[in-house]
Amino acid sequence: MSKLWGGRFSQSPEEWVDEFNASIDFDQQLVMEDLEGSVAHVTMLGECGILTKKETDEIIHGLSVLKEKAADGKLPFSVQNEDIHLNLEHFLIQEIGQVGGKLHTGRSRNDQVATDMHLYLKRRVLEIQELIRSVQSAILKQAGEHVETIAPGYTHLQRAQPVSFAHHLMAYFWMLERDYGRFEDSMKRIDVSPLGAGALAGTTFPINRQRSAELLGFSSIYENSMDAVSDRDFIIEFLANASMTIMHLSRFAEEMIIWSSQEFQFIEMADAFSTGSSIMPQKKNPDMAELVRGKTGRVFGNLFSLLTVLKGLPLAYNKDMQEDKEGMFDTVHTLMGSLKIFAGMIDTMKVKTERLSQAVNEDFSNATELADYLAAKGLPFREAHEVVGKLVLTCIQQNIYLKDLSLKDMQEASSLIDEEVFTVLEPSEAVKRRESEGGTGFSQVRNQIEKAKTILEA
Ligand code: ARG
Repeated sequence: MSKLWGGRFSQSPEEWVDEFNASIDFDQQLVMEDLEGSVAHVTMLGECGILTKKETDEIIHGLSVLKEKAADGKLPFSVQNEDIHLNLEHFLIQEIGQVGGKLHTGRSRNDQVATDMHLYLKRRVLEIQELIRSVQSAILKQAGEHVETIAPGYTHLQRAQPVSFAHHLMAYFWMLERDYGRFEDSMKRIDVSPLGAGALAGTTFPINRQRSAELLGFSSIYENSMDAVSDRDFIIEFLANASMTIMHLSRFAEEMIIWSSQEFQFIEMADAFSTGSSIMPQKKNPDMAELVRGKTGRVFGNLFSLLTVLKGLPLAYNKDMQEDKEGMFDTVHTLMGSLKIFAGMIDTMKVKTERLSQAVNEDFSNATELADYLAAKGLPFREAHEVVGKLVLTCIQQNIYLKDLSLKDMQEASSLIDEEVFTVLEPSEAVKRRESEGGTGFSQVRNQIEKAKTILEA
């Protein structure tokens, strides 16, 4: 098969060389974007009088036939035609004859491929933002039901202070809110048209770049044609934002895995999001959460891979840039899949409130309460800390908790202690009283939930 660029060549590459060179196996995912980019380009060429009305109509008709065939999966892509752009041009010429060859007037594959990826990411980012919203809603739903569910809060994975379980869940809502904002912000740089930059230097044809950008729904155009064809910052930025998002999911996944273990039993994942073991009949494994945690590796990898591809490239286009695609597609699919799984997993998980309340009653996470209580009565906090530390040690030696000490024992440690101490030691009191802004106090948590609702409703 002769190449569309074959004029200056007397020999064609062998098939295995074609295979190494080709990107059609993966860039066929850009088929719709490529066809839409072509429709906009040719429409603009017609409006500018660069193509006749007849030529324009014929090409647009041909492209619409290809669109239908593409939607039905009826385009026989081939590696001999290298990539999505040459494959489609080849099919167009087959469909409408030599006039199809006029489509590429005033355009290069370099601005074409960049346009495709801007269009592709613009769409996927909107879908990803939707999915982030669905995870946030699932969090919000669970949080709404568990404001007064008291859970151990941890630092160093050691019991620290009791918290509202909703407060813990809502921390992830706000992480995802930042992720949403980062994707939103990145739109400014994704939503820019490189079309009309040509191979690198622009074109001698009197094209109208603003018009093709407008037809494609882009908000602005690149100011510099060399930058337009060689910029991949917007993809790197996407990969970085995706990395941050999946890192957040991975932290959450880790907690869900721990929480659903026999040792914790704070939650139970729905059967629909768990799997069994082929040998151990009793097992119920949190595979979905583990997979999200595991997939974080490839998402980070894709970011590093593209940064490395770009770091030594001179201006303008270099074929190295073809390596931008697989990682981008992989990250899009991985992140979308992970967000979808997460929304379902959170929505359906069962929070074991009794087990949580038992947990907070059997630990020393109320020790800070006692120290604060003494400090509020005038004892310098450092001394209060010392007094309570000693009481904790006594308890550990006797295998009991602070609430099990007698008032007499406590008064021996400090005469400032009175009857009221037993209320202070209640885990729910500890939570209720933390009403500093953004704290775990019930009304603070309810506030947070209200704000979050407003965000989701907007
Ligand atoms: N398949 C190529 C890519 O993905 C399209 C651009 C090719 N341009 C070129 N001058 N060879 O980067």
